[in-house]
This record gives sequence, C-alpha cells and structure tokens, in this order.
Amino acid sequence: MGTRVVPETLKEMKHQSDPITMLTCYDFPTALFQEAAGVDVIFVGDSVGINILGYQGPQQVTMHDMLHHTRAVRRGVSNALLLSDLPYGSYATSDTAAANSQCLVDAGAEAVKLEGGDRVLEAISGIISKGIPVVGHLGHTPQTREGTRRVYGDRAEEANSLLDGSLALERAGVIAIVLECVPERIARLVSERLEIPTIGIGSGRGCDGQVLVSPDLLGLNDFVFRYSKRYGDLSATITQAFSQFVEEVKGHRYPGKDHRYLIKADELRKFEDLIG
Ligand code: KIV
Repeated sequence: MGTRVVPETLKEMKHQSDPITMLTCYDFPTALFQEAAGVDVIFVGDSVGINILGYQGPQQVTMHDMLHHTRAVRRGVSNALLLSDLPYGSYATSDTAAANSQCLVDAGAEAVKLEGGDRVLEAISGIISKGIPVVGHLGHTPQTREGTRRVYGDRAEEANSLLDGSLALERAGVIAIVLECVPERIARLVSERLEIPTIGIGSGRGCDGQVLVSPDLLGLNDFVFRYSKRYGDLSATITQAFSQFVEEVKGHRYPGKDHRYLIKADELRKFEDLIG
C-alpha cells in the first residue's frame, strides 16, 4: 500500500521540489498500470472524446461520457488523486458547475478541472462552496480554442493576462493549474509567482509537474505534438497482434492443441450413445 495523494499533497510536493506526475486515463486497466507506475494524479480528461470515443473535438464530450469513464477509472485507482474534467458547457453557471462537479465526485473523482481564467471564477467558487477541490487550466484551452494548437503567452499582452489569470485562479482557491503550450520562460515565471503548483503540458521545464495524454505517450496516435514524447510504440504492437490473429485463424494455425478443452473417452462414448 503506497501513500495516498490528496489535494494538499500537491502543494507539499511543490514546496519539496518533487515533480508532480499526471497522465490522462480513460479506463480501468490503464488506471491499474498507472497506479503500479506510481503516477501521482490520474486524470480523466475530456480528451477521452478524441482518443477513445472517436469524436471530432472536445466540445462533443458530455457529462454522461465523463461519468462513465470516471467510474471505470475509479475502480483501478487506489493511491493516486483521481481528477476528472468538467466537459464543455457543464460549468456555464455557478450552480451547474457545482451540480456537475458533485456528479463527478459521486462517480469517484476527488477533484475536478475546468478551463479558463476570469470567466470561470464564479463557477470555481460554486464548486469550492460544495467542498470539491478544483484544478484550473490556462494557456491553450482546447474546449474554447478548438483546432489550433498554437502557443499561448508568446506575446507580452497574452503572457500578462496568463499571469493575471493564474493569480486570480489561485486567489479563487484552485489547488493547481494546468498550463498548456505556454513558452517555457513564461510558465517558469508563473510557477515561481504561485504558491500552488503548475502542471505543464508543452510548457517546458519550469513547471512543478508534467501531464501528458496517455495515447500520445504510448504511441497510439499517428500525430505527435512537438512537446509530447513517445515512451512506447503500442500502435505497432497492437497492429502486429491483430494481424497475426487474423493470419493464424485463416491459416488454421489457431487454435492449436494447447488451446482446447478435452472430454474423457467414456463421457464421449456416453454422449454418442445418447445422440444415437
Ligand atoms: O483532456 C486533456 O487531456 C487535458 C490535457 C491536455 C491536460 O486537458
């Protein structure tokens, strides 16, 4: 039994300069693998839409989708903090944000994440008033900036609003902020100015933790973002295994002698008598 990661752990890790690890997770077996690897935050991201459900973009993801996948992941998580995304449109008002967050918590989430700065401050206060920890998300925010993968914060004005937004989220009480596709120097400066940790994706080495989208890391997607790193080539492994199965069945090489169940000779004779 390892140590449980709770919301307060993230801040402690920042202050101990212990980098926070976070990965997206959409199903039970992957949650078990991530637990075994010691991932700190197991995250049911709305990237489930593109990576698992075959949607065109994050805006198609529903609360129903997030609840279904949060429940599956919950069954595999024991020590990590289970974080779930609030999908597009689910936190438009403070009341809906609080109600939908409660649904995610009932499904097993221990904290929820939403995208945006000033415009989500009311939603955040609604969620926190229910005692639910919130993680913010700034920089590139896929729910509202669909299609573009551009760096956010590489212009002085943008960088300034990113810093202001981060400080506003911290004042509002979020436990951490995901910084997506922010130039390294800006992400580092923001991280230094905050008491709460930043968790970067495509934001360089100055963040207090790193998050990646698991199918990217595992090599399941053809397209690899510049910031991402492939730690495996599951696409090749899976393609090879499926093709070999098809070949062996078509070629009468599977199943073989080792893959069958036997019946004793006297039982077989009895059966043959029974059917005449
Ligand atoms: O849903 C997701 O995968 C995310 C990551 C990009 C952090 O929000």
